[in-house]
Amino acid sequence: MKYNIDTNNIPKHVGIIMDGNGRYAQKLGLKRNEGHKAGAEQLNVISEHAGNLGIKYLTVYTFSTENWKRPKEEVAGIMKLLRMYLLNWEKYIGGKGVRIRVLGDTSKFEVSLQNLINFVTDKTKNENKLTLNIALGYGGRNEIVSAAKSIASEYKNGKISLEDIDEKLFSEHLYTSDIPDPDLIIRPGGELRLSNFLTWQSAYSEFWFSDVLWPEFSVDDFDKAIYDYQTRHRRYGGL
Ligand code: FPP
Repeated sequence: MKYNIDTNNIPKHVGIIMDGNGRYAQKLGLKRNEGHKAGAEQLNVISEHAGNLGIKYLTVYTFSTENWKRPKEEVAGIMKLLRMYLLNWEKYIGGKGVRIRVLGDTSKFEVSLQNLINFVTDKTKNENKLTLNIALGYGGRNEIVSAAKSIASEYKNGKISLEDIDEKLFSEHLYTSDIPDPDLIIRPGGELRLSNFLTWQSAYSEFWFSDVLWPEFSVDDFDKAIYDYQTRHRRYGGL
C-alpha cells in the first residue's frame, strides 16, 4: 500500500461523484458511452477495494435527476450499462459480501429495469461487508422536498404533531434513513462542487477533490483520499 492508512480510523461511509467519463472518452477519441463503460468498470475496482479497507457504505452518484436532460442516446447508453451491471451482478460482486441498494426515484425507469433493481437489491440484502448505494434518479433537493411532503401528509393525517418534526424525524424520511451520514465525499474530474449529491447528509462531511478523471481514478488515488481524510480533525462545530 502506497499510503499509510490507519485501519482504526476508516470512514464508515464514503460518497463518490463519478465525474469525468465524458472527457476520458473524448481524450481517447471514443464515444461518451464508452467513457461511462470504463467508469462502471472502475466502480468495480474501487468498490471491492473499499470493502477490503473496511468501509461499510459506499454511495456512488450514477444518474441524477438532472441527467435526464442529456441526449437520448447517452441516457439510453447509461441505462443499458446499468442493466448489464445488474444482470451480471454475480460476476461483479457475487461472493464478495456486497449489498446493493438504490437511492433515488426510479419510477421513470423502464419497468423491466425497476424489476431488475428489485431483484438484485433483494438477492443481496443479507450481505454485510459493504453496502453499495447506487444513486439513481437521485437529486438532493428532490429528496428533501419528498421528505417534506411525506412529513406534511403525516401531520395532516394526525400521525405526528408539529413538535415531533426535528432533524432526526426529517432524516428518517430520506432515502438514507438507516444509513449514517457520509464521512467523506470524493469528487474526481476536476469540478469543485456537490451538484445536488447528498445535500442534507453532507452537512458535516469532509470533501476531497481530484483532477483525475473517474475512469482513471486508481486504488492509490482512493487511498490518498482516505489518508488525507485521516489527517483532518472533524469538530462538528465544536472545538
Ligand atoms: C459523469 O461524467 C458521470 C455520469 C453522469 C454517469 C456515471 C455513470 C457511470 C460511472 C457508469 C454507470 C455505472 C453503473 C453502476 C452501471 P460526465 O459524463 O459528466 O463526464 P464529463 O464531465 O467528462 O462529461
